[in-house]
Amino acid sequence: MAPAAAVEKLDPRLCLAIGCTDIWKVVTYIHALRGTAIDNPLPGDVAHGEAVFWGKGQCGTCHMLSGKGGLTAPDLSNIAGVRKASSIVDALTKQQHRVYGSGGAHLRTLPVMDSYLPVYVTTTDGKTFDGVLLNEDGYSLQMIGNDQQLHLFDKAKLRRVAVETRSLMPTDYDKRLTPAEFKDLMAFLTRQGTAAAPAPGRRGGPPQAEREREHASH
Ligand code: HEC
Repeated sequence: MAPAAAVEKLDPRLCLAIGCTDIWKVVTYIHALRGTAIDNPLPGDVAHGEAVFWGKGQCGTCHMLSGKGGLTAPDLSNIAGVRKASSIVDALTKQQHRVYGSGGAHLRTLPVMDSYLPVYVTTTDGKTFDGVLLNEDGYSLQMIGNDQQLHLFDKAKLRRVAVETRSLMPTDYDKRLTPAEFKDLMAFLTRQGTAAAPAPGRRGGPPQAEREREHASH
């Protein structure tokens, strides 16, 4: 069934009001606003985007993706399954990408993250460790060192802990990369997620029932 006809079947009054074709455009637009990136992967050269990810962008020195890469930043293997394309662009280009927006249940911006902040630790016996904070409570601290190792500390054995409030994520990729590189990187990133992983050259997705359940819960 053509989209416009589907709308007409849903409620003919909608079509009388602004026309079925226009309604369909509005529906598509709203879907794009609500869905995560995987529902609307951006166009571009995906293979080139992947090359930018591991090459010029150096994303893999910090980020893990499909089991490869660094541990000092969030795993991006399912980034398109949990973020909108606009949020990913913000992460790459805006220092303030982790502030709460006024988007209600669907945040326009990324939730504040209190892990992966740079941390510098000095133990009571004078050893120093740099890395990112994973977790901290009154007694202990966990961090991923720049040596890519997990370190667990008993706080009683630490002389100094300094946590920076600014993330290490570079936010000037719109300048570091050419527009074509940026576009292709986005094409690659907006396809990284459980909904798109299956057979190459074909857009996969979770079983239909699963999708419907997801939508129903919104
Ligand atoms: C020097 C380390 C570093 C490099 C290099 C780096 N990132 Fe990040 N990135 C981080 C850290 C730490 C965070 C988590 C804190 C934050 O969001 O700022 C992050 C967050 C992100 C997020 C948001 C994740 C989320 O869950 O919302 C995205 C998307 C992202 N990075 C993509 C990239 C891409 C793509 C590149 C390469 C073009 C890249 N990063 C390069 C450290 C890095």
